[in-house]
Amino acid sequence: MSELKIEKVEILGKKSIHVGYDIHSHIVSEIIKTIPSSTYFLVTDKNIEKAGHLHAYVGRFNKVLEEERPNSRLLTFVVSPGESNKNRSTKASIEDFMLKNGCTRDTVVIAMGGGVIGDMIGFVAATFMRGVKVVQIPTTLLSMVDSSIGGKTAIDTPLGKNFIGAFWQPEYVFIDVSFLESLPEREFINGMAEVVKTAAIWNEIEFARLETYSKSFLKIIQNRNADGTVDLTPLRDHIIKLVLESVKVKAEVVSKDEREGGLRNLLNFGHTIGHAYEAILTPQALHGECVSIGAVKEAELSRYLGILSPVSVSRLSKCLAAYGLPISLNDKILQKRIKEKKCPIDVLLAKMAIDKKNEGSKKKVVLLESIGKCYGTSAHFVSDDDLRVILTDQTIVHSFDEAPDKNIIVPPGSKSISNRALILAALGKGPCKIKNLLHSDDTEHMLNAVSALKGASISWEDGGDTVVVNGNGGNLLACEKELYLGNAGTASRFLTTVAALVSPNDGVKNIVLTGNARMQERPNGPLVDALRANGSEIEYLNKEGSLPVRVQSGKGLKGGRIELAATISSQYVSSILMCAPYAEESVTLALVGGKPISQLYVDMTIKMMETFGISVTKSKTEEYTYHIPKGCYVNPPEYVIESDASSATYPLAFAALTGTECTVPNIGASSLQGDARFAVEVLKPMGCTVIQTATSTTVRGPPKGQLKPLDLIDMEPMTDAFLTASVVAAVANDPTHPTSIVGIANQRVKECNRILAMVTELAKFGVKAEELPDGIKIFGINYLDLKVPEGGVYSYDDHRVAMSFSLLAGLAPEPVIIQERSCTGKTWPGWWDTLHSKFHVKLNGYEPAVKQLNFQANGNRSIIVIGMRAAGKTTVSNWMATLLGFKIIDLDVTFNEVVGQDVRSFVKENGWDLFREKESEIFKNVFENSSSSCIISTGGGIVENSCSRELLKKYIVNGGIVLHLHRSIKETVNFLSNVDVTRPAYSTSAENRDIEDEIKEVWNRREKYYHEYSNYFFYSPHCSTEEEFQILRKSFEGYLLRITGSTKVAVPSQRSFFVCLTYDDLTEHTHEIDAITSGADAVELRVDLLKSYETEFVANQVGLIRCHSNLPIIFTVRTKEQGGLFPNDNISEIEELIQLAFKLGVSYLDLELSLPENILDSAVAQRGFTKIIGSHHDFSGTLKWDDVEWENKYQLADKLNVELVKFVGTATEFQDNFELEHFRSLHKSKPLIAINMGELGKLSRVVNPILTPVTHELLPSSSAPGQLSIKRINEIFTEIGGLKAKRYYVVGKPIAHSRSPILHNTGYKKLGLPHSFELFETDSASLVAEKLFNDTSFGGCAVTIPLKIDIMKYLVELSESAKAIGAVNTVIPLGDGKFKGDNTDWLGITNSLYRNGVPSLKNCKVNGLIIGGGGTSRAAIYALHKMGCNKIYIVNRTPSKLIEIKSHFSPEFNLEILETIEQAQMCEHASLIVSTVPADKPIDDKLLIQVETMLKKGKDSNKNFTPTLLDAAYKPRVTAMMKLASEKYEWNVVPGCEMLINQGIEQFEKWTGFVPPYKDVFDAVNSD
Ligand SMILES: NC(=O)c1ccc[n+]([C@@H]2O[C@H](COP(=O)([O-])OP(=O)(O)OC[C@H]3O[C@@H](n4cnc5c(N)ncnc54)[C@H](O)[C@@H]3O)[C@@H](O)[C@H]2O)c1
Repeated sequence: MSELKIEKVEILGKKSIHVGYDIHSHIVSEIIKTIPSSTYFLVTDKNIEKAGHLHAYVGRFNKVLEEERPNSRLLTFVVSPGESNKNRSTKASIEDFMLKNGCTRDTVVIAMGGGVIGDMIGFVAATFMRGVKVVQIPTTLLSMVDSSIGGKTAIDTPLGKNFIGAFWQPEYVFIDVSFLESLPEREFINGMAEVVKTAAIWNEIEFARLETYSKSFLKIIQNRNADGTVDLTPLRDHIIKLVLESVKVKAEVVSKDEREGGLRNLLNFGHTIGHAYEAILTPQALHGECVSIGAVKEAELSRYLGILSPVSVSRLSKCLAAYGLPISLNDKILQKRIKEKKCPIDVLLAKMAIDKKNEGSKKKVVLLESIGKCYGTSAHFVSDDDLRVILTDQTIVHSFDEAPDKNIIVPPGSKSISNRALILAALGKGPCKIKNLLHSDDTEHMLNAVSALKGASISWEDGGDTVVVNGNGGNLLACEKELYLGNAGTASRFLTTVAALVSPNDGVKNIVLTGNARMQERPNGPLVDALRANGSEIEYLNKEGSLPVRVQSGKGLKGGRIELAATISSQYVSSILMCAPYAEESVTLALVGGKPISQLYVDMTIKMMETFGISVTKSKTEEYTYHIPKGCYVNPPEYVIESDASSATYPLAFAALTGTECTVPNIGASSLQGDARFAVEVLKPMGCTVIQTATSTTVRGPPKGQLKPLDLIDMEPMTDAFLTASVVAAVANDPTHPTSIVGIANQRVKECNRILAMVTELAKFGVKAEELPDGIKIFGINYLDLKVPEGGVYSYDDHRVAMSFSLLAGLAPEPVIIQERSCTGKTWPGWWDTLHSKFHVKLNGYEPAVKQLNFQANGNRSIIVIGMRAAGKTTVSNWMATLLGFKIIDLDVTFNEVVGQDVRSFVKENGWDLFREKESEIFKNVFENSSSSCIISTGGGIVENSCSRELLKKYIVNGGIVLHLHRSIKETVNFLSNVDVTRPAYSTSAENRDIEDEIKEVWNRREKYYHEYSNYFFYSPHCSTEEEFQILRKSFEGYLLRITGSTKVAVPSQRSFFVCLTYDDLTEHTHEIDAITSGADAVELRVDLLKSYETEFVANQVGLIRCHSNLPIIFTVRTKEQGGLFPNDNISEIEELIQLAFKLGVSYLDLELSLPENILDSAVAQRGFTKIIGSHHDFSGTLKWDDVEWENKYQLADKLNVELVKFVGTATEFQDNFELEHFRSLHKSKPLIAINMGELGKLSRVVNPILTPVTHELLPSSSAPGQLSIKRINEIFTEIGGLKAKRYYVVGKPIAHSRSPILHNTGYKKLGLPHSFELFETDSASLVAEKLFNDTSFGGCAVTIPLKIDIMKYLVELSESAKAIGAVNTVIPLGDGKFKGDNTDWLGITNSLYRNGVPSLKNCKVNGLIIGGGGTSRAAIYALHKMGCNKIYIVNRTPSKLIEIKSHFSPEFNLEILETIEQAQMCEHASLIVSTVPADKPIDDKLLIQVETMLKKGKDSNKNFTPTLLDAAYKPRVTAMMKLASEKYEWNVVPGCEMLINQGIEQFEKWTGFVPPYKDVFDAVNSD
């Protein structure tokens, strides 16, 4: 065995930190030999146990104990992993274990694990028997370099992390780096944040070493063995070193300042802001990830305060990013993890206010002076204002009044020159020191790509101010990983040709260039065409003409004559020029297709190639043609990059606008850059004094307000400067002379359509501007007339737009918001710092108020509908518009109106691309102008346009509803192949393409977007009958009310049940749903039991339940581990199903508390109106109810703030039910469903107070062992005294034929209720009160004639309906001998109508008619009014009776008496009729004519539903009125017995809390 290498580091005067690799035996023997004890107590977590470490240690330990201390013992304890277990109860359970096992003061506690174990076990040791010895064996990188050292120990409480703890120094810290072999990748990366941070504050040399190792690091730790471990051999020394270096710093600092008086503060660099992020983003984001972002922000703050150089900031962020850490909240992976979580600035500042470093509420931050050195020896106070600027992405720019008279500004290096220099040096031979290189996204991507392709090695000098590119002479090798270029246009064009020169590498035969969404829209086609024509093989992977592309390696460039269309971008030309020397033959590059654009950039490229040793000659015979010889660039030893002339336009324009002076010292007349002419050619004629030498430029502006417009200026040589010129022209105070800027057509295809962007944003300042074919015309105004843009300036993620408008902002009368501050990072990350520190402009951070997602009712906010054509958008939009009273905006119709042409012919003439662009523009307009009370129904392809998608995303983020309507692909194909001619045909080119395939292709392409860019989902299957259609409508309406927050579910507070459906497919069982759910308060869909987990299938199952039940739905995905069928490891699919549940607007989501915490947290954050049931199930029966696991799970549920907790244990003995009840009695902060499974656990099901899961005899199986039906539970509960038998009655006279007893008694029987229902025939209300009300078993009574009014005097309270109708039909005991009067007759009417296909009538303008003038007619009036009827007509044989009725109701009932036949003829039509006249006598003649008139009118009146008549009379079953209505006028008719049953069911529910099964009750009532 080779000798162990162990480094010992001193801390607090003792060499107690031992670092090495594979030093287990050293650790064990050192502990046992040097710390004598009777008991060694090792605590670790389950993951470490699973990785085999515990087992290995126990073996070694016992062996050495046996040899060295045979009388001592080793005890072990394993806790659940994760931060959520670092709490009081876990600590207590460990202490209890120690006490029970007789641990004494000589016990040595060994904490083997990450920071969670180290902190918690350290604290156990600190307090057990007033303190026992502790040894730390850290197993994560974070704990090795940070938490195990320094003696800080703590646990978390619900109010905060690490709030309770102690300083307790360990005897030893044993760092065995080999533990990291089993550490998961993300944890590994997480630890690197502390490592990089420590080097950044203390050790520049170590920092530089870390920079060089980053690439191999990620590659190696990502390369996992089958068991998840990693072979660290190639990195071993590097990792030992980085651990050691960090440890040394921490040990040194702690030794100097153990109790964190000052110096130890420095270790908190990145933590002030990092902790604030962590407090919000935990547990989705890890500590190190937040510290990484915090470190970048704190470095930016240092730069903002003028302390740190921009290069250092970019070095730090680059290094952190290179180790796989997020460096901003926008990091793609982080965003995916944190989902919709937001970090509002006020919350961040509040979190920072409670930092331990602070003094009072003043915040302290560690500032960096350079890499490897902090600013001062402690943290510094910083103002909230400065923090706000750094932490928000919108900046408020205040007035420029404080600007100094003179300024010298050195802008960052030129982007164009930087990018060219990098490509030339990378293709050249030998080292080249490039100075003043622009550190931007573009150069960043170029550098990364160049090193990935092994074209050159890159290193840094002068603290990062100089980059050394050591070129390989053009030998590039393919790499497997895609080259991601963000939105870096130049990099993408230059690298496309470079990619063609790449040779294959180890079987990698091609390379892929890709970029972000916007990059994927930007054109690259002409360049690719030219390269393809020259022999390169390039394939578009997505959109034709744009990135991503796959370039075959080894094809090279053939050379010879290359023709290139160069009217769109000069970057194509430069790209080929620079690579041409490496073609097989010398190249002649001919620029074809008209005058090439931006000649100056081409000249710049040629001049720079000359500096690197290759001379390009212009053709003497052909215009725009160049000869490039074969050769290899020879790198000059040094190349200094000139400042960027486009960037220089901003400080120069600042001078022009403010009447001050500004000098840019390194750009002058000899510059290669076109924009260097800006001062002379634009600012000078506008009235500025300009002095330009060969190498410098100085501008002094005229007094404020005296700039002059330019009639016409061709800015073709300096296109990028047109935005700056535009804002200057905006205040060239002469409205009669607009400034026309031309020659800038290329600016339409830059980061955004810049011409349009300028026109749009200038308008917000009150400046009129127009688009010209190749430019812009600006009507300048007096700066004093500028307006303040409402909501701020939108920057279109375009650095130039942001910087230009920041100039105009300072002239506006009030401060102006500039959105997307960070986009200036592309060319000038420090622009805001310059504005702030050099120009003395006050800046503030700004953050628009973000609505809490979904938690507010939608109110009148517009709703956007997306989905394929044929998904039913029109129908559903109509339903929504009617129900909500919104207006429909159909984008296709709007398109027609705006463009003056229908979509089909527009596409035919102009093609799809232009159509999509136009459509998106119109969408944006509609979106901005119709933000309330509209249903915006979009075209199917709206999601194909990235700008439209962006809009949808923003809408969702701000809490708006984007509803995705879905229909299956089969139905879509059916519909589209057959009928739709209103929209353009799918096939644009060849007739012979199979249309079906084409639809499928479109469907597949869009489907992912529909899902991604919507927050609600409705599956509308094809309906083949009117009935199906009405049911679907009803179910949709219920859905809409839920997702808009109009109807909310309340967690039941009384005995309640939910029935667990156990079908694998509900389709064939919908007729059973009513019976199965009777008596239940909710219905559970066990998604895991379904036969498919496809979105469409699951959504359909939810839809089927909704069509057949009004009960709240519980959406449950039960994993195998918790007794279900869903695979535990399929986390991503669980996440998708959780998302789906929210999109479907279910009432409850069952969320297993054992899921990863990030999933739990994001589900809770997104829940909207869905209530969360945090659940945990123990099938094994091993968790007794006093186990800490239940306590921890309950605390977790409490922390997550779920609405309900559901714990299911297993009873192995009867006693377990009592243990459970004890647990229940101690846990009352959340509604708790707690039961025991198994035969022995049935009692717990009977006594569980709310939402007990139940089964039903019609179900194929129960969902858990021991599950009972509601009937059984009620029977048992009755027998054990939980339910008391009540007596109910119907009172009145005559009542002998009343169907109420059979109705109620049937219900009692079906539900196992012990009650009875009897007749009590009397016409004396006092008798009722005397005989019944005084009986303690009296449960309530139904009241009929003649007591409906008489009974009132015995009641203390009347319901709203009883008051409005003026009659009581239901008496409900209130307790204490008091009673309430209610009326359910009206509900009998509404529910019968709803059950028969009548939708809600709100906003429908539907009228109703009531026939009759008795008591029932009053209930009918109330019913139709409640349903939303607009006008209610009343007719009667004797109209005089109606006058009294009308006067009884308030005017809002909108009652109108139809006295005469003429009045019936003249009135509006009615679509609902309720007849309340007796059916056993013929109808009076005049009344009949009136009724027939109304029936006739109503017949075709309504498009929403079939007109419907309910006859309240139920004898005979089919009355003459019903016959007349249905047979002669085709009305839908509803018999009176349904009303009777529905009102009875309402009474039943009010009395017992249960809804009886409709069908059983119906059959019983109609039985004889
Ligand atoms: N005391 C201090 O000075 C200090 C400093 C920084 C952080 N902290 C604390 O440290 C904690 C975070 O520590 P952490 O990042 O180590 O988290 P952790 O302890 O939760 O470990 C991270 C994960 O890795 C697993 N794991 C640990 N070692 C492993 C190994 N070798 N192989 C496989 N899996 C392994 C763990 O089970 C856990 O799931 C926080 O509670 C934080 O407050 C304390």
